[in-house]
Amino acid sequence: DSVITLDPGYKNTGSCQSAITFLDGEKGILRYRGYSIEELAEKADFLEVAFLLIFGELPTKAQLAKFHSDIKAQSVVDEDIRKIVDAFPKSAHPMGVIASLTSALTAFNPSSVNVDSEEDMYKAICKILGKFPVLVAWTFRKKNGLPLDYGDKNLGYVENILKMMFKQPNEDYKMNPIVLNALDKLLILHADHEQNCSTSTVRIAGSSHVGLFASLSTGISALWGPLHGGANQAVLEMLEGINADGGDTDKYMSKAKDKEDPFRLMGFGHRVYKNFDPRAKIIKKAADEVLNDLGVEDKILEIAKALEKEALQDPYFVDRKLYPNVDFYSGIIYRAMGIPTDMFTVMFALGRLPGWIAQWREMRLNKEPIGRPRQVYIGETLRSFKTIEKR
Ligand code: CMC
Repeated sequence: DSVITLDPGYKNTGSCQSAITFLDGEKGILRYRGYSIEELAEKADFLEVAFLLIFGELPTKAQLAKFHSDIKAQSVVDEDIRKIVDAFPKSAHPMGVIASLTSALTAFNPSSVNVDSEEDMYKAICKILGKFPVLVAWTFRKKNGLPLDYGDKNLGYVENILKMMFKQPNEDYKMNPIVLNALDKLLILHADHEQNCSTSTVRIAGSSHVGLFASLSTGISALWGPLHGGANQAVLEMLEGINADGGDTDKYMSKAKDKEDPFRLMGFGHRVYKNFDPRAKIIKKAADEVLNDLGVEDKILEIAKALEKEALQDPYFVDRKLYPNVDFYSGIIYRAMGIPTDMFTVMFALGRLPGWIAQWREMRLNKEPIGRPRQVYIGETLRSFKTIEKR
């Protein structure tokens, strides 16, 4: 019998070979296809980064224009999807809605279910990159009682997302360049993070050769949890709670360190980073700039900075190498942009979409075998069946 190695949470198990994202958790390095995250966040736009992640190289002008136009050509969703959006209660969590809508897309796009050739993959990729922002905007608008509209094909990819979300009826939408720039940066920073929980979920689901959209909807569900993408919502709720409780950060630091108390300092710690999360550094700076540029004063930012300062000096956090992660400051920017707390993780999904797609495509092109972990059985040995009367 082969010996099964037990590795709960896959802390030391590589599930695949990948050429997409390089991460050095000890040094706090993150690169997409060899380009540093700092340089990409500064110089690239989100669609360029999406192309880079999915196809491996930065696009030329012509390649990017074609990619964008192929995506725009696919940005209409079936009118019946509107009925599905309408049928959700207003109180529904947007992550549940968006996961369901992504799954529902398979029903309206049967050709995207079996995508074995690179050509079919490309079509499915453009479809989801075109339709997903529409679903995000509709989810947001439905909650806000706004009519569900389509985008504006004359706009850039991210500009269009903002307009689709925020345009009020009978009003010219004025793009705020600060908000646009901040969203572009946030989406780039979230675009891939190698074999995290949601990405591994997408790869495992896709390894059964279920189609792209179905694989993505499993990733969206995995992202929702507060230990993963849902942390951005949890961070803001935590900061608001501390604020409402008088802003006593010491009290919450003690709670986070108390092993009897389930409270954790949300937005702190990471499975792989044992140093500063490089994304958090960029986002902290952006949060300062965005709030300043928009003229927003937010007590929550002060509380976040105080918590970070205390944690970075506290032996509990220092010994365990717990640093702020990507989610610690992102919610503060989303909030300043007018995005409600329960939409934060949806914004993360919007950013992660190209990463999931790239990882799914790589898995299929590598012809990886079906993902099927083993286990160490610790249950009962053979027992004989007792009829219900005798139990
Ligand atoms: N607050 C207090 N203690 C913590 C925290 C925290 N945020 N994170 C880890 N610890 C402690 C933990 O209790 C454990 O202590 P001990 O060794 O005494 O038992 C030690 O640090 C190691 O933690 P772990 O839970 O074994 O580490 P993990 O790799 O399994 O979990 C994590 C990583 C991100 C789930 C965890 O750090 C956490 O729950 N953080 C808060 C949630 C969060 O911010 N998640 C977002 C992660 S980044 C974005 C993303 O992945 O989507």
